[in-house]
Amino acid sequence: MNKRTKRKMRSHPNSILFLTSNRHKAAEAQTILKPFGVRIFSKPAKGIEIQSDSIEEVARVCAVFAYKRFRRPLLVEDSGLFVDSLNGFPGVYSRAVYDQVGCAGILRLLAQERRRSAKFVCALAYADSKGVRIFKGTVFGKIALRKSFGAGFGYDPIFIPMGYSKPFSKIPTIKSTLSHRARAFESFGRYMLKKSKRL
Ligand code: IMP
Repeated sequence: MNKRTKRKMRSHPNSILFLTSNRHKAAEAQTILKPFGVRIFSKPAKGIEIQSDSIEEVARVCAVFAYKRFRRPLLVEDSGLFVDSLNGFPGVYSRAVYDQVGCAGILRLLAQERRRSAKFVCALAYADSKGVRIFKGTVFGKIALRKSFGAGFGYDPIFIPMGYSKPFSKIPTIKSTLSHRARAFESFGRYMLKKSKRL
């Protein structure tokens, strides 16, 4: 961590290190945690990578590993898209699949498929001197018939949350209130609020 980040974190009492290489995730996390008075400082999660068939396990192990390295309270998040008719694929492989074939690849796999239900899941691991706590968030929805452009990242252009007719990429404000990440980070925010009242 560079000196500037260290200085900034010291000057903000409720600051938490968020290890992520994804600037979109960092920005979403900051927006969600602001009302809870928690400030995020993000840093790329270099060299911390494990393979597992559970996103919860990935987040937990990475958080343990990172806490040993940084010795300060921190967050690690792992998330993925789970498509029902593909038996939960791409799931833990969401990033690799996105990097290889993108949204178009998922649309091709579902080309003849009428069952398009899917969910996004986020596992957020918070590590401090007491251990690791997991906060999970899920949003149900379906895969669109075609890709829509707009804001966001990853599979946002093809994921339509339940109760809406447009994908996340077209409704970023709504995404920030009901996404898998919003739900996981909000329960973390509530936990931090309770913790600060106990002190
Ligand atoms: P990871 O958690 O960094 O391993 O990334 C999982 C992958 O899932 C990302 O690279 C994205 O492709 C996808 N993903 C996770 N969260 C979102 C989201 O909020 N919107 C769109 N795609 C997402």
